[in-house]
Amino acid sequence: MRKIAVLTSGGDAPGMNAAIRAVTRTALGNNWEVFGVRRGYAGLMDDDLEQFTARSVGGIIQQGGTILGSARSADFHGMPGREKAIANLTRRGIDGLVVIGGNGSQAGANAFSEMGFQVIGVASTIDNDLVGSDITIGVDTALNIALENIDRLKTTASSHRRAFFIEVMGRNCGYLALMAAIGGGAEIVSLPEIETTPEQIAFAVQQAYASGKSHAIIVVAEGAKYNAEALVKFFKENGANLGFDLRGSTLGHIQRGGAPTAYDRVLGTRLGYGAVVGLAEGRSGVVTGMIQGTLTYTALKDVVGITKSVDPVLFEMARVLNR
Ligand code: F6P
Repeated sequence: MRKIAVLTSGGDAPGMNAAIRAVTRTALGNNWEVFGVRRGYAGLMDDDLEQFTARSVGGIIQQGGTILGSARSADFHGMPGREKAIANLTRRGIDGLVVIGGNGSQAGANAFSEMGFQVIGVASTIDNDLVGSDITIGVDTALNIALENIDRLKTTASSHRRAFFIEVMGRNCGYLALMAAIGGGAEIVSLPEIETTPEQIAFAVQQAYASGKSHAIIVVAEGAKYNAEALVKFFKENGANLGFDLRGSTLGHIQRGGAPTAYDRVLGTRLGYGAVVGLAEGRSGVVTGMIQGTLTYTALKDVVGITKSVDPVLFEMARVLNR
């Protein structure tokens, strides 16, 4: 009988629990033993594991966050930490690992695989910056949270004839910001990949005013050169006459919280299932993702350290539609 372990690592993402549940129950269905690792790689180094039954993962598919807990572990970046982790697994007779997480987590998985341990990643991050999946676990929920907040800002913006900027997460990737701008009908968007200057932002707001709008929404990515902090500073120092009063909101971690959408529950389930199928087929050093609706396995060496970029065509579309 095989024994495998599953962990979640890096920033949590709604839908991770669906993936944990799918990994556990698929493995149990193969008559394997499954162990949940608490607190990501940190828990692996501390041998903080619990054997799971089907009941351990009951009632979690609708919960946000991760029942296993997550961590960003500096120690794991070094060889001694990794060797300790593998020794802990081997001592328990565990010979396969599923790593649910984003770029940094998959870098850890790649290192494990290069050390000869069988490991499969599951593409999970709200940032959607990971190549190897068109969309990663948590993106849909985070995007819906951003849209709900933009919609709310719009009503108060219209009542007071104000312009609002709203900063969304995404690290160095503008995907969430661009999609939130498109779905939220924003006047302008500022991304890490395509620079939008404060002057361009001011111009877009003035255009909105001149064309009779009662509000202007500016979506900024946290990783953009002109993020919320830089914009506040600029407009304070330059006192631009925008036509509207300007206010700002930063969504921050609110975007990672709450129940996963239907899409993220199903995606988490499909990728978790696919990870165990991949282990059974003898795959290692790959990440399970969804490309054009199909479950895929992409080599981790082609994934780690690369930030997926946004589609400039969609950026142009957002610009055309803002009149
Ligand atoms: O990678 C997910 C993410 O939420 C990013 O969008 C953000 O930059 C980062 O994590 C925040 O990290 P932390 O939760 O450690 O503050």
